[in-house]
Amino acid sequence: MEEIFDECWNSKGIQVFVKRDDLIHPIISGNKWRKLKNYIQTFSLKKHSGILSFGGAYSNHLFALAFVGHSLGIPTVGIVRGEELNVTSNPYLQQMNKWGMTLHFMARSLYRNKEIQSEYENYQCIPEGGYGSQAIDGMDTLFNELPACDAIYCAMGTGATAIGIARATTVPVTGILTLNNQAEIEDHLTDFPAANLKLDDNYIFGKYAKSNADLDLFCKDFGEKHRIPIEPIYTGRMFYAMCDHIKNGHIAPDSKLVAIHTGGIK
Ligand SMILES: Cc1ncc(COP(=O)(O)O)c(C=O)c1O
Repeated sequence: MEEIFDECWNSKGIQVFVKRDDLIHPIISGNKWRKLKNYIQTFSLKKHSGILSFGGAYSNHLFALAFVGHSLGIPTVGIVRGEELNVTSNPYLQQMNKWGMTLHFMARSLYRNKEIQSEYENYQCIPEGGYGSQAIDGMDTLFNELPACDAIYCAMGTGATAIGIARATTVPVTGILTLNNQAEIEDHLTDFPAANLKLDDNYIFGKYAKSNADLDLFCKDFGEKHRIPIEPIYTGRMFYAMCDHIKNGHIAPDSKLVAIHTGGIK
């Protein structure tokens, strides 16, 4: 836990702590380890031949899975969105390939197609972005590592991390959406209810990973000021939202906030 200081919140008596899950590991950083650990345990128990999962060309989840496979000697398969790509399209794909992950590049329309999975019948399949009950349950111990607080902030992709944290506590959790998938997250919440999780879709900046000069500047300034690296896709959007909430008076004076640093490779 690291407390960060800023006139903007300290003048209101608000304290902000950052849970540095980004420091868990250089590659399986942030929520990746927590999301993967139960899947890995199940894998060992059920004796599958390998693990297969899905993601985009810059998927932090697939990158972490490729490293886990490499470290533990588990064959891994990554189904990547985008048939125009190949193993040299970006340094992350290159590295995943070097770690031994078998990569398949699929047209967006065929991406969720089950056909390719049938080639890997005996593989354990982890849904896109690591989403699933095992990922949600993987957050169970995180709350015990946090100090008493009034609210928790967390970036949302699939929602597994924020839902898992919210289900482990009664503290209000603010989930900052990073893509236009509120309906999907609401569906997840019918399967895994978390009444204390509040969704905020005001910080998507158009669409997933879309760059924005204001946001980029915020990330740069935040990194310099607090000596905590953040990226614009997930943690940048989350911290931007939290600061905005404080500035706009949405946070009661003298509150204690915890922001979860979920890592990131970009
Ligand atoms: C750095 C980072 N933060 C947050 C998230 C969102 O996690 P979740 O998909 O569990 O909502 C991701 C997703 O991969 C991520 O890479």
